[in-house]
Amino acid sequence: KADRLQRGLVDPPLAAGKAQGDRLTILYGSQTGQAKRIAAQLSARAEAAGLSVRLVRADGYAQRDLAKETHLAVVISTQGDAEPPDDARGLVEFLLGKRAPKLPGLRYTVLGLGDSSYPQFCAIGRQIDARLEELGAKRFAPFGEADVDVDAVAAPWAEGALEQARQLLGSAQPTVRVANLQPVPSRVVYTRERPFAASVLDNQPIVARDAGRDVRHVELSLEGSGLHYEPGDAIGVWPENPPALVDQWLSLLSLDGGQAVRHDGKELPLRQWLTHERELTRLSRPLIAAVADASGDEKLAGLLRPDRSASLAALLASDQPIDLWRRHPARWSAEELVATLRPQTPRLYSIASSQKAVGDEVHLTVALVDYEAYGERHWGAASSFVAAAGDDHRVPVFIEENERFRLPKDSARDIIMIGPGTGVAPFRAFVQERRETGAGGRNWLFFGNRHFTRDFLYQIEWQAALRDGSLQKLDLAFSRDGDAKVYVQQRIREQGRELYDWLQDGAHLYVCGDASQMAKDVHAALIDVAITHGGQSPDQAKEWLSDLLQQGRYARDVY
Ligand code: 2AM
Repeated sequence: KADRLQRGLVDPPLAAGKAQGDRLTILYGSQTGQAKRIAAQLSARAEAAGLSVRLVRADGYAQRDLAKETHLAVVISTQGDAEPPDDARGLVEFLLGKRAPKLPGLRYTVLGLGDSSYPQFCAIGRQIDARLEELGAKRFAPFGEADVDVDAVAAPWAEGALEQARQLLGSAQPTVRVANLQPVPSRVVYTRERPFAASVLDNQPIVARDAGRDVRHVELSLEGSGLHYEPGDAIGVWPENPPALVDQWLSLLSLDGGQAVRHDGKELPLRQWLTHERELTRLSRPLIAAVADASGDEKLAGLLRPDRSASLAALLASDQPIDLWRRHPARWSAEELVATLRPQTPRLYSIASSQKAVGDEVHLTVALVDYEAYGERHWGAASSFVAAAGDDHRVPVFIEENERFRLPKDSARDIIMIGPGTGVAPFRAFVQERRETGAGGRNWLFFGNRHFTRDFLYQIEWQAALRDGSLQKLDLAFSRDGDAKVYVQQRIREQGRELYDWLQDGAHLYVCGDASQMAKDVHAALIDVAITHGGQSPDQAKEWLSDLLQQGRYARDVY
């Protein structure tokens, strides 16, 4: 596919005829595709500079090759609380474990990706960097730590790494790769950097009025975009911050939205900066540090100490930037504000439709974030932007591939889908796809939410699917209908015998939704199932499950 090549997502073949010693190996571990994107960019640039490069996803890398490498660049993200991405679990375990080889002949550099709204920011990258040093390897370029505005750190890191690699590996004449000679399609290819402006075809609540929250089914048009997606992919949305939130900021700081602000070589009115260019709804460590600094508040500064990480995590989870600014008043000029707030970043939604079923459309399941706290209204940037969408309003989008979350290639395989809440979205896509393609394997869905009558998302569709044979089993866990909470993991345990049999017969297992609790609890329930119904010891069960993860038969799309 030409657009794949353009996006640099195809692993280049190993350059023939070169010894490993002349080569830069770029290894990446990626959950949402960011680390992969950065690694692919570095690879493309290094190749263009005439270096011999090998770009490999961590789970496709033969660990025994490590001792033979001479030049290695690692790009790896950290998930939630210091977890590696699923595709790098094996490699991280190997590297940090006792069996890792000494690496005295290796020069390396690491870029960690993370989200500084978690206290263990970039922990995995940092561990890999430290461990390589411990194994005797030498850095050829410094360790980088990229936050959600990835490119701010990734671009200079890649620049530095490339410069050093060129000196070390002595670049030959720039070579022109065959791919570059292929005709480039003349139409625009829409990407993260150049999103498509999608119009909104439908936007309706799919929970009852008294559900206590609002979840929307949103349909966007991709007509004319040439964009393609597979079930399991996500859609990236570049949000606009709510006008009322921008007003809150302007009035809080007594700033004029019309005032021109120059930053980073760009000059825009302040209101534009705040609406389009700046992250206003997610708090981060650097913002806390900046506010502590500006207000001189020592208690706030104290939260950044390593021993206060639990309090910091609580603050990061509960508050938005404006809450902090309200509590810790200080004078801010428009320039200081723009320089301190971080660049806006796109939000990813798991796609809820199959293109085979909906053609030029893409469907999303969006939980609207709109609540009161500290006596003020708060919004989520992307959900309120998408939900506010009217006829004249376009949503800038792009497709984010998620090749780790794919239906089995063999359509006769069974699948088990676990998706409470809006985590059900990709499974709507899976079931649509399997219906359209007449896949022979069976489909089993575990869904949970608060109330059967209020927030059974896509209820009518699941019931129709059960009737038309595109869903064989549906297990439901409504947590607030009875006296005791019932969650999907309880249903998993209850259905353990059959679930284990499906897995033994080769079923693929998928989990989508909340990473902080649900995914861990479901993981624990699956271990129990293997112990109870597979006669495995706790250690064997853990090993069995991580093997399934490694093989890609247990895939997670959690956030
Ligand atoms: P609760 O809000 O009543 O606790 C989707 O959000 C559903 O997931 C809700 O029914 C929610 O229940 C439930 N849920 C909350 N924590 C969970 C967990 N740790 N594991 C599984 N489901 C959970």
